[in-house]
Amino acid sequence: MAKIHNTMDNPIYPYPTSITENERSKIKGHKAAVLWFTGLSGSGKSTLANRVEQILCLEFNSHTYLLDGDIIREGLNRDLGFSEKDRTENIRRVGEVCRLFTDAGLIILTAFISPFREDRDRVRNVLPEEKFFEIYVDCPLSVCEQRDPKGLYKRIRNGQIVEFTGITSPYEEPLNPELILKTAVVDLETCARRIVDMLLNSRIISTL
Ligand code: ADX
Repeated sequence: MAKIHNTMDNPIYPYPTSITENERSKIKGHKAAVLWFTGLSGSGKSTLANRVEQILCLEFNSHTYLLDGDIIREGLNRDLGFSEKDRTENIRRVGEVCRLFTDAGLIILTAFISPFREDRDRVRNVLPEEKFFEIYVDCPLSVCEQRDPKGLYKRIRNGQIVEFTGITSPYEEPLNPELILKTAVVDLETCARRIVDMLLNSRIISTL
C-alpha cells in the first residue's frame, strides 16, 4: 500500500476504496459539486444556499448538503475565532469536508464569509477540476448593515465586536468567480435560478 507523509511527518497509508466517486454519483443521478457562496455577513449567502438546496432536492431529486458558517462554528470548528489565522483554518477544514462529501457524490452548498482569496483558491485546488463553483454574493456593506439580520453590525458600531469582516477585517473580492449575484438589486428567486441554470449548463444536474 502506498505510503505518504502528512504535515506532521507521520507515515500514513490511505486505503484505496473499491467504489469510486463516479460510481457513487451514478447511483444518485447527478455529478458531485461544491457551490461555494462567499460574501459579507448579511449579503444573503445562507438564504440563497437554502433556496438552491430546496430547488435541487425537490425539483431535481438531487442529493445535497448545506454547510453553514454559524453551524460549523458551533461544532466542528468551535475552537476557532475570527483572527486571520483562525479564519484560514476554518476554511481549510471546510474545504476538507467538501473533499470528502464530493467523493461521496453529493452536491455541497457552503455559506461562509471566506474573506481571503488564497483560502478559497486552496479549497478549489483540493477538489477535482470543474467541481468547484465560486459564487460571489455581492452586496454593498451599507445594505448588509441595513439588513443586519443578526444585529451584529449594531454591536460592532457599539464596539462590542472586533475583527468584523468589511469593517475592521478585510474582505477580498473574488477575481474570477463562476458567478456573481448582486443580491441588493436582483431578487432571491432570480439569483437561485441562475445558479440552477449554471449547474444544468455544466451538466452537474440534468432535467428529469
Ligand atoms: S469566516 O470569515 O471564517 O469565513 P464564517 O462564515 O465561518 O466566517 O462565520 C461568519 C459568521 O459568524 C457571521 O455570519 C456571524 O454570524 C458570525 N460572526 C461572529 N463574529 C464575527 C466576526 N468578528 N466577523 C465575522 N463574522 C462573525
